[in-house]
Amino acid sequence: MKGIVLAGGAGSRLHPITNAVSKQLLPVYDKPMIYYPLSVLMFGGIRDILVISTPTDLPQFERLLGTGEELGLNLSYAEQPQPNGLAEAFLIGADHVGGDSAALVLGDNIFHGPGFPAQLRRSIAELDGCVLFGYPVKEPGRYGVGEADADGRLISIEEKPARPRSNRAITGLYLYDNDVLEIAKQIRPSARGELEITDVNRAYLERGTARLIDLGRGFAWLDTGTHDSLIEASQYVQVLEHRQGIRIACLEEIALSMGYIDADACYALGAKLAGSRYGEYVMSIARAAGATA
Ligand code: G1P
Repeated sequence: MKGIVLAGGAGSRLHPITNAVSKQLLPVYDKPMIYYPLSVLMFGGIRDILVISTPTDLPQFERLLGTGEELGLNLSYAEQPQPNGLAEAFLIGADHVGGDSAALVLGDNIFHGPGFPAQLRRSIAELDGCVLFGYPVKEPGRYGVGEADADGRLISIEEKPARPRSNRAITGLYLYDNDVLEIAKQIRPSARGELEITDVNRAYLERGTARLIDLGRGFAWLDTGTHDSLIEASQYVQVLEHRQGIRIACLEEIALSMGYIDADACYALGAKLAGSRYGEYVMSIARAAGATA
């Protein structure tokens, strides 16, 4: 499976913070926002990842993440010149996906919960059509909204409905078989002028091959779209990290735990960040895993 992180958009709801900096590079507590969605793909075992952003912002993502080789990843980069919608990721990323299946994750979505990596790997292994992840929210009308039957089959999906049929927001993580490339080509712009991912998902619903997995209570799917939700996400990460002495979405640690890099390589990555607590943490987990340095 190939991965795509879509990190475009003008970030207009966060102006003036995002006037000169991409939203997905803003800090969520101790690391750039894009680390969180990247960690999701890594947990899914996906190593071939395309980062899509605006022509202005893309060089900054490359500066931050490079080729990905140090993390055992293969990162590539592509421009989305205009905010034409999420489904455009599969037009821009068609060559990257090739004949494979694909996972799309939005660069501003944060997923955190026990058992999530295992659930994700199961969903990828069993993928037949498309898999969406639903999350109960107080204001579903701000998102894509879905309904599933008792077997988890998606039975309705609407983009930002005025009268939501459920409280299940469709989160920004989408798993698709290779048909997504053909489906995305057929999509036409919506009333707001975007190629809607919801229309792609509806095409799978009509084929009867769309599943909706409930992330449910106790799980954290965090928004970073407003000044308040951005700081709340930081506070969530801060509380868990302080209490447990762990780091959420620490890419070096995940690369180590997935076997993409060994303990010595992990230690070297931490040493490069020495001087920050984050770097010290990376060195400490590498030492615990037997780094000889
Ligand atoms: C997009 C999707 C929406 C989804 C949301 C998740 O909304 O269109 O279906 O629920 O991402 O973050 P947007 O961020 O473009 O408003």
